Amino acid sequence: MTDIKKIGILTSGGDCAGLNAVIASVVRSAAKYGWEVYGIHNGTDGLTESPLSYEILTERNFADTPWPRLAGSYLGSLNKGVKMESQLAVSERFGKGVAELGLDAVVVVGGDGSMNIVSNYCHNAGVKMVGIPKTIDNDTPLTQYSVGFNSACQVCVEAIDALWKTARSHQRALILEVMGRDTGHLAMHSAVAGFADVCLVPEIPYSIDGIVAKLKSIKESGRNHAVIVVSEGVHTETGEMVSNTKNLIGEKINGGIGEYLSAALNAKYSEFQTRVTKLGHVQRAGDPTAFDRALATAFGARAVELLKAGKTDVMVAIEGDQIVTYPLDDVVACGTTGLSPDSVYVKAAAEIGMYIGEIKE
Ligand code: F6P
Repeated sequence: MTDIKKIGILTSGGDCAGLNAVIASVVRSAAKYGWEVYGIHNGTDGLTESPLSYEILTERNFADTPWPRLAGSYLGSLNKGVKMESQLAVSERFGKGVAELGLDAVVVVGGDGSMNIVSNYCHNAGVKMVGIPKTIDNDTPLTQYSVGFNSACQVCVEAIDALWKTARSHQRALILEVMGRDTGHLAMHSAVAGFADVCLVPEIPYSIDGIVAKLKSIKESGRNHAVIVVSEGVHTETGEMVSNTKNLIGEKINGGIGEYLSAALNAKYSEFQTRVTKLGHVQRAGDPTAFDRALATAFGARAVELLKAGKTDVMVAIEGDQIVTYPLDDVVACGTTGLSPDSVYVKAAAEIGMYIGEIKE
């Protein structure tokens, strides 16, 4: 048991549906113990910039408002990356911010990058932390699901369903480029749920000839339309990154693979016209699904329970129907979790004849 009286909560990294349900769950669970909850604005910025930016959260913020039901982050979030060499200086400001507010611990709702960076700040500044995984990419290690993934899949499936209708009207092969950063969880899960014909993910090599063969077989079967899902992290057939765009710290960011595929397919096969839809940030902003709301609520409640029990420097995770915990050091050591070729969804896609690239036996 601990003598916690005041905790902070912040959302870090790209936003997603379900964040507000996490915040509401933490606030409600903490109210049981009479703790004060400080909502930190804009990721760690609210604690590292001067003046500090935060608000005291009570059940009133969430009880009779639509917030727990909405996507986005009530608190604001931050997705800009921090260079290793700047992390020590930021840790110092972070520690001062936490001390100024008198926080006994912080709950950090973030993905793999945030678990790494913010746990580093906490470690350097001697701040207790509990992590809650969220990301539409579903690549946070050691948890089967992160908050936001299921809702993003729902948006992608709705887009696939819509594209299927217009593809059919116009006898086209329509390409949907989805997010996922360097992993294919979002693309594969959505492609299987949306009955797509082709799904390309960064983890599995592919060939343009392989896609063309699939399109030809569709044509020969008498069907005149197809839907292709491609993850933004897929490179060209020969392994080059398509985009030259960089983020604020100079790293190249994904995107543009849909247009590359369209041109490459048109050059080799003219039976289907292609068009590209890049789904973009709507994937982060659909209504939180029932699954994500329930997961968010369970994660938030467990985070408070852990703090009450004095167990910190861990991330909550879901395994089957159990919420488990992992040391943050282990989470960080794992890096990012890509889509395994052994995933049930990869296997199902292959079994139903979807072209998913050239899997080595
Ligand atoms: O990590 C979540 C994510 O939406 C990725 O899928 C995507 O590559 C990235 O964030 C986009 O980031 P930004 O909002 O900075 O463009």
